[in-house]
Amino acid sequence: MTSKSHNHENVALITGANIGIGRITAIELAKNGFKVVIAGRSLERTQPVLDQINSLEVHQKPIFIPLELASLASVRECARLFIELNLPLHLLINNAGVAGQRGLTQDGFEMAFGINHLGHFLLTQLLLEKLQSSRLSRVITVSSRAHKRASGFDWEALRQPTKSWTGIQEYANSKLANVLFSSELAKRTHGSEISTYSLHPGVVDTEIWRAAPHWARKLLRLRGFLTPEEGALTTLHCAIHAPHQETGLYYADRQPMPTSALGCNAKLAADLWERSEIWVSQKPGK
Ligand SMILES: NC(=O)c1ccc[n+]([C@@H]2O[C@H](COP(=O)([O-])OP(=O)(O)OC[C@H]3O[C@@H](n4cnc5c(N)ncnc54)[C@H](OP(=O)(O)O)[C@@H]3O)[C@@H](O)[C@H]2O)c1
Repeated sequence: MTSKSHNHENVALITGANIGIGRITAIELAKNGFKVVIAGRSLERTQPVLDQINSLEVHQKPIFIPLELASLASVRECARLFIELNLPLHLLINNAGVAGQRGLTQDGFEMAFGINHLGHFLLTQLLLEKLQSSRLSRVITVSSRAHKRASGFDWEALRQPTKSWTGIQEYANSKLANVLFSSELAKRTHGSEISTYSLHPGVVDTEIWRAAPHWARKLLRLRGFLTPEEGALTTLHCAIHAPHQETGLYYADRQPMPTSALGCNAKLAADLWERSEIWVSQKPGK
């Protein structure tokens, strides 16, 4: 990708960058002068990415912070550890995600919703002051075109285990939550120096499809997968090149794109935000 050099104090925190789109994004950000902090489930599985960034001989050493998005306690600890580093935060990339994983998170939320939306919602909330105090910061949330297949939220169902057999409907709903979260965050940070972006990375050959039936993966491959390198381009565009004065837009193919009708429903976005605020402040199981 074309690179634009940033000064060395630029700091990016990215979730789920041990594999897939996140891994390429982290490496490219390091090449572009960012100090990269990777929040993920396993240091051991992230070590090859840290080694690869270190081998680039970039000025800033990458850092790993543990994060299990299915646990709000872990999200709180991750934010605490980040704040303890005493670094600014210019770029928060809510990238980690699951598709087709069924069940409940540790706090009793539907799995895709809990990991893809609620964990990132809390992480962003806890780092908002940090983002506000770091000049010209960006919050990028990796959503999906699948948000267009979302049916809206059954608020009760979000407190129950995944209902559909494939988990694909719940995935679509969680990706709608990503789009709505990003646009509502733009509204709530209006007048600050924070810009927000949500995006579809393309249909990319990564481990996200591990829970999908074999035939579905085959079908997707026939229709043409992007490589993770290609899949990282829209995130990198939003991180580095998209105009900072824009905020709240949804991107695909490195350009702003319309969302579904539900994706631009301001009332739904505000409702989701308010409910998410309550949910993350509740004791587990409530
Ligand atoms: N691939 C596509 O075609 C496609 C299309 C549209 C949108 N997306 C979106 O792109 C983003 C990146 O996905 P990908 O395709 O790169 O998938 P991937 O290769 O499966 O990577 C997903 C990342 O998320 C992490 N993760 C999963 N569950 C987590 C949890 N509970 N806590 C913390 N981290 C967790 C994974 O870590 P572990 O290794 O520990 O599991 C991994 O690092 C996702 O938000 C996805 O929805 C992907």
